[in-house]
Amino acid sequence: MVVALALTVIAPAGHIRAQELRGHGGPVRAVALSADGAMAVTGSFDQTVILWRLSSGAAEAVLRFHDGSVNAVASLPDGRFASGGEDGRIALWRVDKPEPDQIIAAHAGPVSALAASADGAALASASWDGTARVTPLAGGTAQILEGHRGQVNGVAFLPSGGVVTSGYDATVRFWPTDGSAPRIITLPSVLNAVAAAPDGEVIVAGGDGVLRIIAEGRVVAEIAVAETPLVALALTRDGSAVAAGGIRGNVVIIERATRQVRANLVGPGLPVWSLAFTANGRELLSGGADRLVRRWDARSGEHIGPVIARAAESPLGNIPGAAAGERGAQVFRACAACHTLAKDDGNRAGPTLHGIMGRRIGTAGGYSFSPALKGMDIIWSEETIARLFEIGPNAMTPGTKMPEQVITAPEDRKALVEWLARVTR
Ligand code: HEC
Repeated sequence: MVVALALTVIAPAGHIRAQELRGHGGPVRAVALSADGAMAVTGSFDQTVILWRLSSGAAEAVLRFHDGSVNAVASLPDGRFASGGEDGRIALWRVDKPEPDQIIAAHAGPVSALAASADGAALASASWDGTARVTPLAGGTAQILEGHRGQVNGVAFLPSGGVVTSGYDATVRFWPTDGSAPRIITLPSVLNAVAAAPDGEVIVAGGDGVLRIIAEGRVVAEIAVAETPLVALALTRDGSAVAAGGIRGNVVIIERATRQVRANLVGPGLPVWSLAFTANGRELLSGGADRLVRRWDARSGEHIGPVIARAAESPLGNIPGAAAGERGAQVFRACAACHTLAKDDGNRAGPTLHGIMGRRIGTAGGYSFSPALKGMDIIWSEETIARLFEIGPNAMTPGTKMPEQVITAPEDRKALVEWLARVTR
């Protein structure tokens, strides 16, 4: 009891955490934590990469480079991060730069998974082109890992050196660093993801809903998680817990030492495409079909904040009129992670909307707009902003990095723009 009491006192009472990361225009296909644990990076079917500050839930950058969905992200020990796309390319990013720091044209098919080596010297990628690669980041030729029959869906570095891959051909392959033939284990199911723990155990997520743990070249545990395919897999940094999620939206957290289910996450039942633990392992982030990144307490499995949050509970501080339930303020929740409204609040991932009415596109001070926007002939007004979200940013402002989104109900567009006109003056 004494211990429990002490813990209650130490817990950051009243500390407000963002309940969800809201801003992508499509399913969230990939999520990773920055090396220092302060930021999350996500990739989406909306073709963008978003960089989020976890403490506030604000989007700090929207990065657009890939032609097609962003299927994989990974963070590097030096603070950079990598994204892999449907276009077969891999981009390396720095936090403070809107263009890729380095581009690796790696694969002839979509990149499905990425992993960085512990020392950050190499990046491993898996692809639907049937290969995996280990690319030295300081230059030099990539090691190409060929042999899987069909799509390679997972890749991870092994603590002992070398990498492990998993694929649609139901095999797990352990590739030594010296280029010699891999050791191959064939399992009863197609495999959608792989992770490697610090002690060398390897975990694979199966299309049959079973999580399998491999040690010393054989399966040492099988945990039936779901009736439907598992698609997402994550491991805490210390390797003590594993999370797996499926296309029905079910997510479980398992203690690796005991192989016991610690928590069953009760979400909205939508497909979960991506999972990542925070640096200290206390929270789990899940990215899914509902375009949100949800946050879960990794001990209890409880959702942080209500599963369906209300406007008044926006993590991003005061949206004017939100508490009173104003419709325009509620619609703006879809924008709040990226745009501020008040004079002194500055730019986030998107430019400030302060003074937006009557402003020419691409002219907000101190913001680095996409080149495509700068030559466009649009003056923002209630009509043009309503139109922007009627037909979507890609149609109205081709080349924009604002994630694709539409507001389907005309009354919602009207409420948003009338409210915006009022609160951005
Ligand atoms: C994930 C981040 C994100 C979300 C969510 C988002 N935006 Fe944007 N928005 C941007 C970015 C980034 C730009 C700049 C586009 C560029 O430079 O290509 C932008 C540009 C704009 C512009 C043009 C600004 C100018 O000065 O030319 C308007 C207007 C706008 N957004 C309104 C909205 C509204 C209203 C919503 C919600 C319905 C919204 N945005 C949601 C990121 C976002």
